[in-house]
Amino acid sequence: MDQYKNMARYYDEKIIYSLKRAMEIERFLPTGKLLDVGCGTGVTLEYFKKKGYNVWGIDNSKAMLEIATRRISSEKLFKKNMTNFKLAEKFDAIICLFDTVNHLTKFSDWKRFFVSCSKHLSPRGVLIFDMNTLNKLNALIGKTINRGNGVKIKISRKENIFYWKVTTPSGINIIKEKSFPITKVSKLLKNYFSIKKIPTKSGRVYFICRPLQ
Ligand SMILES: C[S@@+](CC[C@H](N)C(=O)[O-])C[C@H]1O[C@@H](n2cnc3c(N)ncnc32)[C@H](O)[C@@H]1O
Repeated sequence: MDQYKNMARYYDEKIIYSLKRAMEIERFLPTGKLLDVGCGTGVTLEYFKKKGYNVWGIDNSKAMLEIATRRISSEKLFKKNMTNFKLAEKFDAIICLFDTVNHLTKFSDWKRFFVSCSKHLSPRGVLIFDMNTLNKLNALIGKTINRGNGVKIKISRKENIFYWKVTTPSGINIIKEKSFPITKVSKLLKNYFSIKKIPTKSGRVYFICRPLQ
């Protein structure tokens, strides 16, 4: 199911949020070939393309990818699931930003995602992703976020899944998010990478992951 089908164009009206994420990680990125996992409407890819990166993207939303093709050659965009993607390429950098990993509601899928990334990184490559922590998501319960373009988001929780009810002028969309303790995620990651955690004031944590040598 395409969770973003009816909201891709509203999502793309607020590119500033995606640009902020790109700028936050820029200093950690090696130059070269970059893959954006869950690339959405391609804002981050366009940002790094302008900086000279050879950019590639995958996403499982047709609606989001359609907008991304206005920014990036469709030959480097693929409709793929981040838990089992295969590309005949190795990348200097793989990024996965803006809570994309939180869209995976099973921990086994987080593992599959990390394994897929490790298979696509060059030996000196880096994987950078962010996650919404449990603390952050819990603090959002009951709050309404007004995105300012007729889009409102209300967050609730049921059985450890966080439901983002996104109301747009075209209707209501539900996005599911899940999080896990940072210690549990770190332990899993250490099977494949050496890691560095960068907390932020907003409660988002970045992981900088390099293949074990
Ligand atoms: C919050 S958006 C972030 C988009 C983009 N990274 C950005 O910074 O603007 C999450 C994206 O992840 C994609 N996504 C969610 N689950 C996915 C999956 N299993 N495989 C691939 N993409 C997925 C969604 O379609 C959506 O485009």
